[in-house]
Amino acid sequence: MQLKAVKADVTAIETPALLVNLYQGVEKPGGATGAVDRALDGQIGDLIADGEITGKPGETTIVHTVGRLPARRVVVVGLGKKEACDLEAVRRAMGSATQRLLQHGITRFHTVLHGGAGLSDGADTPAIAQAIAEAAVMAGFKDERYKTVPEEEEPGRTEPREKKQLAGLTVVEADGRKLAAIRRGLDRGEKLARAVNYTRELGNTPPNEMTPERLGERALELADEHGLECEVLDREALEQMGMGAILGVGAGSTNGPRLIVLRYRGGGKTARPTAIVGKAVTFDTGGISIKPSARMEDMKYDKMGGCAVLGILKAAALLKLRKNLIGIIPAAENMPSGTAYRPGDILRSYSGKTIEIINTDAEGRLILADALAYAAEQGPREIIDLATLTGACVVALADAASGAFGDEDIISRLVEIGKRTGDRAWPLPVFQEFGDKMKSEVADIKNSSGDAWGGASNAAAFLKFFVQDSIPWVHLDIAGTAWVNKPKPYHPLGATGAGVRLVTEYLAGG
Ligand code: BES
Ligand code: MN
Ligand code: ZN
Repeated sequence: MQLKAVKADVTAIETPALLVNLYQGVEKPGGATGAVDRALDGQIGDLIADGEITGKPGETTIVHTVGRLPARRVVVVGLGKKEACDLEAVRRAMGSATQRLLQHGITRFHTVLHGGAGLSDGADTPAIAQAIAEAAVMAGFKDERYKTVPEEEEPGRTEPREKKQLAGLTVVEADGRKLAAIRRGLDRGEKLARAVNYTRELGNTPPNEMTPERLGERALELADEHGLECEVLDREALEQMGMGAILGVGAGSTNGPRLIVLRYRGGGKTARPTAIVGKAVTFDTGGISIKPSARMEDMKYDKMGGCAVLGILKAAALLKLRKNLIGIIPAAENMPSGTAYRPGDILRSYSGKTIEIINTDAEGRLILADALAYAAEQGPREIIDLATLTGACVVALADAASGAFGDEDIISRLVEIGKRTGDRAWPLPVFQEFGDKMKSEVADIKNSSGDAWGGASNAAAFLKFFVQDSIPWVHLDIAGTAWVNKPKPYHPLGATGAGVRLVTEYLAGG
């Protein structure tokens, strides 16, 4: 993938496709779109007058230039209303256009710096260039590792399946003084998007292949590539350490559990690390408290918290963040079997606290209990965990944002970064009464409240029981954001990589 910026006049660019833009409600386009319109004898203006181009978000109109411009096609992308046009609107426009062009087999194209004259959120030039790169590289992600039958031979297929890989994108800018800033932004965006796509690929890998053991191998490969330290603890090591909760969840599967620990050292020798903890249930059947079969296949995405941790460490390494990080990934497969843990079992967690099992489908909080207690031992300055933890969080926030629980200062920064990146987080509470509901009659805590209400907060309260009050901690519930069953402008079907840009930008921010 090549990302470039050149100083040039858009009307002089030779390219298969040139992206320009239009704000909703504008009848006579100015700037680059105006210049292109003049070269096309007012064709864009005519299409606007006819109502064929409106500038609404997500709209992409391909206009063939038939020799009137060196560009073969002009693509007019809608940015929505000018007063509401922010970085996320630019990303969506760029993502829609990229997906559309790739469907047509166009893998190299040029674009103007959408919103370069000013966005509603006041984003600067590098931020806009970054958003353009992120959206193009994220929208250009395609995963056809498991397709062996060529498109032409697929019975009954009428729509093209083939979406070519994005090969090159060039930003065209008339003002040469902006080029350096654009290049900086493109580079940063490309690195973040590459980390996101890496997380997506791990996540999309089917559960028969991506077992806890294999995830551990992938972590070791990542460590090798980027000079990280990595250690993978297997069942035997977990037994020796007394990680009773991870072992309990993993007991039902022949694919044994793992605890994956990675270290990135980009900060000072004595600087305390940020611990990033991610749930990696490689497949969640629910265990003995088995789930209904409808859409159970989606539960391969129950590893996305852990996959996001790997993506965040990759991004940190690519961006050379000046921070020390420790990534902690408890990985297990939640299966029903003769060796599986059961409702009624009492597990002794790594912290020493005992947990009564009410529901074996509330497994994520159990493996996180051990991982969080282990994280606390590493002397972190703060702990952030990511987990596809509860259906209740999806009820609350759908796919619009990840739920954020815990330290209010960290959360307020995450909310701000979420608005800017489109990788959103939104606060939900962990009041004392949620914790009260998790008290057990027979053990220190139970893994399910047994009532139907406030499930996302109940789970967070359970986690809170395993982190010390003295360590700032945030839990991100990514159950609604970690994958899409319907594509979005820059999220093709499957894993989204939610949390990777959010947490990396948080870490980069000081
Ligand atoms: N992995 C699920 C949560 C989930 C559900 C994520 C749907 C994404 C989509 C988690 O392990 C789970 O099963 N949670 C239960 C908890 C309950 C048994 C207390 C839930 O949310 O129903
Ligand atoms: Mn579950
Ligand atoms: Zn789960």
